Amino acid sequence: MGKTALITGITGQDGSYLAELLLREGYRVVGMTRRTSTDVHERIGHIVDDIEFVSGDLLDQSSITSIVAAVKPDEVYNLAAQSFVPASWTQPVLTGEFTALGVTRVLEAVRTVNPRIRFYQASSSEMFGKVQAVPQNEDTPFYPRSPYGVAKLYGHWITINYRESYDLYAVSGILFNHESSRRGKEFVTRKITDGVARIKLGLASELRLGNLEARRDWGFAGDYVRAMWLMLQQNAPDDYVIATGTTRSVGEFVRAAFDHVGLDWEKHVVVDPRFYRPAEVDVLVGDAGKARAALGWEPETSFEQLVETMVQADLERLRPFAAV
Ligand code: NAP
Ligand code: GDD
Repeated sequence: MGKTALITGITGQDGSYLAELLLREGYRVVGMTRRTSTDVHERIGHIVDDIEFVSGDLLDQSSITSIVAAVKPDEVYNLAAQSFVPASWTQPVLTGEFTALGVTRVLEAVRTVNPRIRFYQASSSEMFGKVQAVPQNEDTPFYPRSPYGVAKLYGHWITINYRESYDLYAVSGILFNHESSRRGKEFVTRKITDGVARIKLGLASELRLGNLEARRDWGFAGDYVRAMWLMLQQNAPDDYVIATGTTRSVGEFVRAAFDHVGLDWEKHVVVDPRFYRPAEVDVLVGDAGKARAALGWEPETSFEQLVETMVQADLERLRPFAAV
């Protein structure tokens, strides 16, 4: 009998890649989704018949506990969250409910239903915020700079606390930014590749962005979900940083994306202060040495491949809308 995995956030970018990986590994995959009046299966349309869906919400303890009891998972991957950093300033309480307390609700369900269930928490490099060391590893002190970062830090520590209090196999993966053609269009990489494709196809003439100086350690989401799975296959639970170890500015991503289609970015990009943040995370770069040594994990996709793949996917998606 294969294992059963329950994924919260299965309709998101990471949920879609993780579901693909677990199906390939022979798992029964169950996805928790919240009720919506429209179809949110865009990212998992190609595997929707291979997944079982259960309806629940991070805000609702009883639905989560009932789901864990009914599904009987071997592994729970808690990927659901309010994940867009700017929205955490406009909706700080909701972000705390979803992204912080939601973690406790899922952990409570695991603890009360079956403490032998293995639990993965989607923690974030955003917790390093105003970085206290370069590069950041598992020992670097945290200094979050957004309500989202603060909420994720709560989720990180409650995971460790449940591990230590109740002897759960509960791990926190501290993942640096990871992207793909399935990334939400409000995040900067996808906003850029979507904008570049629109400009190249004559559907737009400018791309408005905020801080071009911010630096991120960008990897490919498909590589990162493999690390999540590996973290739950070890003899003992532990927390890991997952990153490429290289950092690029938003401006460098912009240039690479425009170069790919042979356009001059300076003719199209407009810096718009509306996209500045009340407090910025200036630079992130991770040291994934522990994951490399203990999990045998390495990123397989380069920055250049990531940019090209994303631009290419947006060009293909938008081509039917281009003027002939
Ligand atoms: P995403 O695309 O924004 O997906 C978020 C998922 O959470 C969606 O499936 C969403 O469902 C679900 N969700 C939101 N609120 C919910 C609620 N109240 N109840 C149930 N489900 C809810 O995010 P992602 O990029 O895949 O990231 C996955 C996780 O990793 C998140 O926790 C994120 O904070 C974390 N993380 C991401 C990165 C990154 O670079 N991508 C880095 C570090 C950590 P709907 O489809 O219904 O909205
Ligand atoms: N979104 C956005 N839009 N960001 C912009 C823009 C813009 O127009 N212009 C510049 N940026 C800068 C932001 O100020 C930030 O410094 C950087 O681009 C990256 O922004 P996002 O792509 O929105 O990602 P993030 O780093 O804030 O958060 C993502 O990564 C975290 C891990 O470090 C999200 O996926 C989080 O959920 C995740 O935890």
